[in-house]
Amino acid sequence: MPQFNDTELTAAVVKSFEETPDPRVKFLMEELVKALHGFVRKTDLSFDEWAYAIDFLTRVGQKCSASRQEFILLSDVLGVSMLVDAVNHREREGATETTVLGPFYVGEHKPMPHGTDISANLTGERMFVQSRVTDLKGKPLAGVAVDVWHADDDGYYDSQRPDYETAGPSSRARFITDADGRFFFRTILPCSYPIPTDGPVGQMILQTRRHPNRPAHIHFLVDAPGHEPLVTHVFIEGDKYLDSDVVFGVKNDLVSRVEKRTDQVMPDGKSAEAPWHLMTYEFRMKPGQGAAPKPMMAATEDA
Ligand code: BEZ
Ligand code: FE
Repeated sequence: MPQFNDTELTAAVVKSFEETPDPRVKFLMEELVKALHGFVRKTDLSFDEWAYAIDFLTRVGQKCSASRQEFILLSDVLGVSMLVDAVNHREREGATETTVLGPFYVGEHKPMPHGTDISANLTGERMFVQSRVTDLKGKPLAGVAVDVWHADDDGYYDSQRPDYETAGPSSRARFITDADGRFFFRTILPCSYPIPTDGPVGQMILQTRRHPNRPAHIHFLVDAPGHEPLVTHVFIEGDKYLDSDVVFGVKNDLVSRVEKRTDQVMPDGKSAEAPWHLMTYEFRMKPGQGAAPKPMMAATEDA
């Protein structure tokens, strides 16, 4: 009979998975057990600390709802989401860098004509975004769906608003690239914002004296047939949180120098009230396959 002491326990738990039919599941469970046991051994975890961890994870689960995914937030602030992204995108071959999807991708992006002001009713400094989608050789990709979304001037996404169901989307849209791979739209200059701090993850961030902010950015999900779906952001150069993003999502190539403009017309020839801002960014797609991610909300009981 095995003796379940400090030295023999890990081997016994690893062995308990030996009949697992799926070899990948078997491998993941074995490595998870080894990593968890290694953590307990290395830290000499006390009963109180173990109980705190159980209570914390319970509160994370209880905070999840159909519109709130506190576990993804936990993964984000611990750098796990970016690490999963990194190990799955090791070779970019010149393609645009990727970053986290974030919890505010709710899908259902409505196709809109180029030039639409997606933040029409919001206060904020006006911005014109012009972009192009190409392959790795610079050949334009036409007819590509590009989902865009960003926070308002108070740092909230439309889906965080209590009246989202009735008010409908804001600062959230889909554009389809033209024959030259281009798309463009109007919006406001996004600002930096804190991740939600009214739950256990935000409380942990504050208690550990981290700041909860993300640098200003626009999210893009580019889904071109024959290419890997691209989940990324474009960040605004000069933001004070670029070096300390709470979810570790910034990469140099994703920072855009947004120009302040005083001309009376925007690039599509329509008149502008000066000053306004111009963001120009090109997306280079990597050949490949894959399904674009779906919004990941909390599982429901009957799911
Ligand atoms: C976001 O950019 O929307 C986001 C990403 C990760 C955690 C929280 C927010
Ligand atoms: Fe965001």
